[in-house]
Amino acid sequence: MLLHIPEVLSAGEAEEFRRALEEAAWVDGRGTAGHLSAPVKHNSQLHWQDPVAVRLGGLIVARLERHPMFLSAALPREVLAPLFNRYDGGGSYGPHIDGAIRPVDGSSRKIRTDLSMTLMLSDPADYGGGELRIEDRAGGRSIKLPAGDAILYPANSVHQVTPVTRGIRLAAFTWIQSLVRDDSDRATLFELDAAILRLPEDPATDAARLQLTNIYHSLLRRWADL
Ligand code: NI
Repeated sequence: MLLHIPEVLSAGEAEEFRRALEEAAWVDGRGTAGHLSAPVKHNSQLHWQDPVAVRLGGLIVARLERHPMFLSAALPREVLAPLFNRYDGGGSYGPHIDGAIRPVDGSSRKIRTDLSMTLMLSDPADYGGGELRIEDRAGGRSIKLPAGDAILYPANSVHQVTPVTRGIRLAAFTWIQSLVRDDSDRATLFELDAAILRLPEDPATDAARLQLTNIYHSLLRRWADL
C-alpha cells in the first residue's frame, strides 16, 4: 500500500528544517548505499551523528508517534532515526531496492524494514524533476508532494529519484519495522480502522462498533509480532 500522509510537518516547520539544513555538513550519499545501489546513487546526505540530523530526526519521529494516519497505516514497532538527503545539479538515485535488514545506528540492534518513508522538505515549485518513482503491481507512480508531507510505501518496492533538473530537493527518509509484517494484512487493518471511525456517533451503532473493534484486535493479535 502506497499512502500519502499529509502534514507530518507544517509548511512553516518544513521551512525551518530547510534553513537548518542549509548550514549542515553534507557528505556523499554513497557512504550508506549497498554495493548494488552505490553506482546509481548521486546525492548528498547527513551523517547519522550530525547534530542537525539528530535534532531534526527526533522532531520527525515525535510527530509520527502522534500522527493518527501514520500510526493506523504503519502500526510501527520501531521507527529508525530519519536521515536527510539533498539532490541538486542533476542528482538522482536510479532504480534500487532498500535492504531488508538495517542496523540501528549507534547500537548493535537491527530492524526488519517493512516500510520505507520519505518526508518531503522542499516545496515542489522550488525544484524540477526529482520525482520519487515507486513501482507497484499497477505499474508505477511518480510522487511529488508538498513540503511537510510524507509517502509511506512497502520497503520491497523498486524505487528511484529522477534527476533534479533545477533547484534543490531536500527530504528526510526512514524505515519502519511494523508490528504486522505483511503489507496486505496491514492494509486490511488500516481499512477496518477507517471503517470503524466512519461509524456515526450514535447509540444505535455502539454494539457494531464494539464488535468490529473486537475483530480488529483479534486480527492484530493473530498477525502482530512483538
Ligand atoms: Ni531507497
